[in-house]
Amino acid sequence: MQQGVRIVGVGSYAPERILTNEDLAKLVDTNDEWISSRTGMKRRHIVAEDQATSDLAVEAAKRALARAGLDAGQIDAFVVATVTPDFLFPATACLVANRLGATGKAAFDISIACSGFVYGLTVAAGLVRSGVYNRVMLIGAESLSKITDYTDRATCVLFGDGAGAIILEGSSEDCFLGSSLGADGSNPDVLFQPGGGSRNPATAQTIEEHQHYIHMAGKEVFKFAVSKMVDSSLTALQKAHLTPDDMAYLIPHQANLRIIDSATKYLKVPAEKVVVNIAEYGNTSSASIPLALAELDSDGRLKQDDVIVFVAFGGGLSWGAVAWRWAA
Ligand code: ACO
Repeated sequence: MQQGVRIVGVGSYAPERILTNEDLAKLVDTNDEWISSRTGMKRRHIVAEDQATSDLAVEAAKRALARAGLDAGQIDAFVVATVTPDFLFPATACLVANRLGATGKAAFDISIACSGFVYGLTVAAGLVRSGVYNRVMLIGAESLSKITDYTDRATCVLFGDGAGAIILEGSSEDCFLGSSLGADGSNPDVLFQPGGGSRNPATAQTIEEHQHYIHMAGKEVFKFAVSKMVDSSLTALQKAHLTPDDMAYLIPHQANLRIIDSATKYLKVPAEKVVVNIAEYGNTSSASIPLALAELDSDGRLKQDDVIVFVAFGGGLSWGAVAWRWAA
């Protein structure tokens, strides 16, 4: 039996500690002007030493539950999109559900880097629309600072930590309009964490060679990012027989302001429709889109029937977009 799906709660959480461009200039050879002009970033929120990804996810989840007026026990399944799980296994979603008091419910992680939220939204909405579950919580949560090499100026200026959560619920109206996902695993080393997996298990040497940190060929990622964001946004809209003119908001993954500007120029979307908070958070991978959505929601800027396109790209390489109709 197919039913519709809507978002009934949104919440976000960012840790208190702030890392500014000026702070980074004390760690590596960089400066505020370079970082701001190349990326649009000014600050990032960074986890405390004793905080892990599940701690951020639980806070965001509590806020989404409060917004929806629901208890965790009323959620049927928990999905956490992350590349910085508390452990390689068990899934962070299991820990989050337990901490929320929902032990026994379905819980699993999605690992597809910065595309995690749009992949997760497609999967979670599918679970609801197919009637498998009535309520699914999707959380994008990352502690990227834990896998960031603060001796590498090419990457350490980019990443921050945070979490955003949404609750999807079965509904007579269907807000899922279309999705376009893709991946190309032919060059995984363009953006990856080389050490710690079964290809390259942890050894003293992998630690010495900084293999447990994010490695990235920035220019390669930049080139693919713009075209994939444009193509997947258009395809998701086309599936709903819509065009970019129908969009009320574009919520892009916040990786680089220049990537966002280029993509929106191709899509011919006016700046006021593009949600950007990169100056405050940096790149928080799968958390960036729900963090931005939570801001829109709490600012009261979302209206009934607003068409939103969520679009992301990231390690894999991977990319994707979801077109969504907002139900207030
Ligand atoms: N401060 C000062 N100078 C720097 C810094 C820095 N932090 N980082 C690099 N530079 C230098 C380089 O060494 C280089 O110097 P050189 O010309 O003397 O060799 C110069 O600046 C230019 O470097 P580029 O890499 O060409 O700079 P670019 O304009 O490409 O910007 C950036 C780099 C910001 C990383 C950009 O390529 C980018 O944003 N790429 C996409 C990144 C991205 O979206 N990643 C997604 C990751 S998310 C995930 O999946 C976890």
